[in-house]
Amino acid sequence: MSEKIYYPNPDFAKDARINSMDQYHALMEEAKSDYEGFWKRYADEKINWYAPYSKVLDESDAPFYKWFTEGKLNVSNQCIDRHLKTRGDQTAILFEGDRGDVEHITYNNLSQRVNRLANLLKEKFGIKKGDRVVLYMPMIPEAAYAMLACARIGAIHSIVFGGFSAEALKDRIVDAEAKLVITADGAYRKGKPYLLKPVVDEALKEGVESVEAVLVVQRNQEEIHWEAGRDHNYNELIGNYSDECEAEMMDSEDPLFLLYTSGSTGKPKGVQHSTAGYILWAQMTMEWVFDLREGDVYWCTADIGWITGHTYIVYGPLAAGTTTVMFEGVVTYPDAGRAWQMVQDHKITQFYTAPTAIRLLHKMGEDEPKKYDLSRIRVLGTVGEPIDPPAWKWYYEVVGNGKASIVDTWWQTETGGHMISPLPGATPIKPGCATFPLPGIMAEVIEQDGTPTPVGEKGFLCITKPWPSMIRTIWGDPERFKKSYFGDCKKEGKPVYFSGDGAMIDEDGYITITGRTDDVINVSGHRIGTAEIESAIKKIDKIAVSAVVGKPHDIKGEGIFAYIVLKDPDHAGEEMIAEINSVLKKEIGAIALCDEVVFVPDVPKTRSGKIMRRILRSIAKGEAITQDTSTLEDPTIVPTIEGIVKG
Ligand code: PRX
Repeated sequence: MSEKIYYPNPDFAKDARINSMDQYHALMEEAKSDYEGFWKRYADEKINWYAPYSKVLDESDAPFYKWFTEGKLNVSNQCIDRHLKTRGDQTAILFEGDRGDVEHITYNNLSQRVNRLANLLKEKFGIKKGDRVVLYMPMIPEAAYAMLACARIGAIHSIVFGGFSAEALKDRIVDAEAKLVITADGAYRKGKPYLLKPVVDEALKEGVESVEAVLVVQRNQEEIHWEAGRDHNYNELIGNYSDECEAEMMDSEDPLFLLYTSGSTGKPKGVQHSTAGYILWAQMTMEWVFDLREGDVYWCTADIGWITGHTYIVYGPLAAGTTTVMFEGVVTYPDAGRAWQMVQDHKITQFYTAPTAIRLLHKMGEDEPKKYDLSRIRVLGTVGEPIDPPAWKWYYEVVGNGKASIVDTWWQTETGGHMISPLPGATPIKPGCATFPLPGIMAEVIEQDGTPTPVGEKGFLCITKPWPSMIRTIWGDPERFKKSYFGDCKKEGKPVYFSGDGAMIDEDGYITITGRTDDVINVSGHRIGTAEIESAIKKIDKIAVSAVVGKPHDIKGEGIFAYIVLKDPDHAGEEMIAEINSVLKKEIGAIALCDEVVFVPDVPKTRSGKIMRRILRSIAKGEAITQDTSTLEDPTIVPTIEGIVKG
């Protein structure tokens, strides 16, 4: 890791919202000395309350914390209506399609479109407060309208990433007991149309009882199947509905959305977020971390199917009243200059992406950014996985021209918004390091009993006080919620939130994330549980045992490495690998495809039958085995597997 410290550009820093470490420390002190007072100050300043809350933080049913109890608000009002007087004609969403088509959707337009859709959902489908609506959508503005329309009428949306398979979609629809699915015929990717609707048809084929209707947006006008009585055409219907729709009065703690994420068991977890706490922190972090100013044009390249798309394409930017760019395509198509062309053309001031994309753009065009005018960029963000120093340096020097601040934001689906991140006008940066907790966030690196982990050693990354945008529960499984997040670490005898990540703190208090401590792999910034992959592979009858681990990958950060024990070793070979990948594609989606598959006679197990993944991880990485193997059921398996992997 480079020892050089990078200071914020003084020209930008002087006008930044938080422009010195003194200011940062003062805010942190304020939060530490009067935690509820700190959050009250921002809740009162930022949120458009219909009715006041009675209590800032209710800890009586910990860890089911409640924030701003009895307060009434509506997230679509917070993101749209309250801006109409002052910025009705400002672009809210700047959409660029895969083929270069551009649309500016003003706050006024957004209001009309969201209200129409909200009325359609209510009147045509009888969707009411608390109903679940699954969105299986491409990156088109209608996806944002659908999120906000749900929020407007109090329906709980659950977005399923468009790359997930029919099986994965079905599991999520069934778990949430969704009444309606909103999808599109398809969209465009790399210059060609692709289809989404057939995946929905497949998901709904059997065993889904809750879904009454499917609303289909026509994006690419491709030929699709229309199921009579079930499927409805958005484009034909939407004009029939009024563009005025009163927003439902929502309670602070009413769920805003569910978003499924991988855990350490096979079944994905429906992370449930709240209304008030979530939107408050989405807006605050948007303003602080991206140092948002009037006239900014902000672009986050994530997909709305992930938490980054929820908080930092739709809810955060719109609550903060900025212009948010939504992009249908991929940043490397038609060439390595696409992203930089867009930054230049749309006069983008903040650019937020994943290290995977940075590595890919770097590899494809070292000097490509220099061909474009990127001078308006003040803040460059990264998210989802650790950023390695070479990628960081290129991002800083070539994309940011040594002037923009890089914010390496650490957070999770469960945290709702950023937790640890530099503040672009204040924090001196050590590359590859997420730096410090944001004001109000009590992130600590501790041992399981709550004692601080010594400097330079790996500990558990915990958030030791509840925060407004935290996960409220796992949909339908409160026990799993408690066990998953509050079962491992305690501080002063009280269970605290454990993120599942390890981290290290240095002598200056900087926090570096060292990665997951559980069996979750991070492929291109996307979380995939090894158990989820293994339970899909198990469906192949010819396989006796599978064990999946992460292996460092040049572009993706981590790749999927599978050890397969066959019932009959003669089945080993390319055909078997193809079958494994085809099952993974069917059960989960293309993101779960294996990068490497090796056939082994057995896997290392303890005498009680537990697979020793640490050994398998070391072998995959080509590291020397330092673990004690004498307690294994069969210690000789280790050199055997090493021999196979080395080929
Ligand atoms: O391991 C951490 C990694 O991504 C995980 C969260 O994944 P997910 O819920 O899908 O959300 C991704 C987008 C917020 C974390 O537990 N992670 C996230 N940000 C960083 C990171 N690892 C290192 N550095 C980061 N900045």
